[in-house]
Amino acid sequence: MSDQSKPFLYVVVCAAGVADGVGELITAAQEQGWDVGVIATPQGLGFIDTRAVQKRTGRPVRSAWRSPGDPRPFPPADAIAVAPATFNTINKWAAGIADTLAVATLCEAYGSGVRTVVLPCVNPALAAHPAYRQSIERLRGMGVLVGGGAGPFRWEEALELLAARGPGSLTAAQPVAAEGE
Ligand SMILES: Cc1cc2nc3c(=O)[nH]c(=O)nc-3n(C[C@H](O)[C@H](O)[C@H](O)COP(=O)(O)O)c2cc1C
Repeated sequence: MSDQSKPFLYVVVCAAGVADGVGELITAAQEQGWDVGVIATPQGLGFIDTRAVQKRTGRPVRSAWRSPGDPRPFPPADAIAVAPATFNTINKWAAGIADTLAVATLCEAYGSGVRTVVLPCVNPALAAHPAYRQSIERLRGMGVLVGGGAGPFRWEEALELLAARGPGSLTAAQPVAAEGE
C-alpha cells in the first residue's frame, strides 16, 4: 500500500536504450521521500523490466488509459520526471499530440501546473532537426525544466532539477490526473 502522505512522482519512460536503468531514478526518488508511479509509452514498455518496476514501486506500470468506471490507478502527481525522453515524445508533447497516455499526461500537466522535468536522450543527428530545437524551446517556455546535454545520461539530474524548482507549481492550478478527467 502506498503512503498517501508522501508526494507522488510520475516517472514517464520513453523507448530509449537507457530506459532499462529507470530503477536507479525510482530508488533515488524513494530515498528522497517520493512515492513513485511509472507511466511508459507503448514503445517504452519493451525497454524496461516491468515486473522489476512494479515490485519496486508497488504499483502497476501504466501505459494505456484505464477503462471507464475503473478506479484511478495512481494518485494525482505532485511532480513529473520524463526520463528518458525520446525525440518522438518530446516533439509530440510540444505540439500537443496526446496520442499516448504518457504524452496526454504531460500535455495536461502544463494546464494543471504540475512541476515537470525532462531528461532528453536524443542523438546529435536527431537533435539537429529544427522541429526538435523548437520543441525544446517551447517546453522551456511552458516552464518545463530541461536537463541532459553533453556527457552520459544522469538519472539523478531529474531530482536535482525538481529540488531546484522547489515545491511550488508552475501555474498554481490543480494537480494532474492521468486520465484527462
Ligand atoms: C534499441 C533502440 C534504442 C533507441 N534509443 C533511442 C534514443 O535514445 N532516443 C530516441 O529518441 N529514440 C530512440 N529509439 C527510437 C525510439 O524507440 C522510437 O522513435 C520510438 O517510436 C519512440 O517512441 P516513444 O517516444 O513513444 O517512446 C531507439 C530505438 C531502439 C530500437
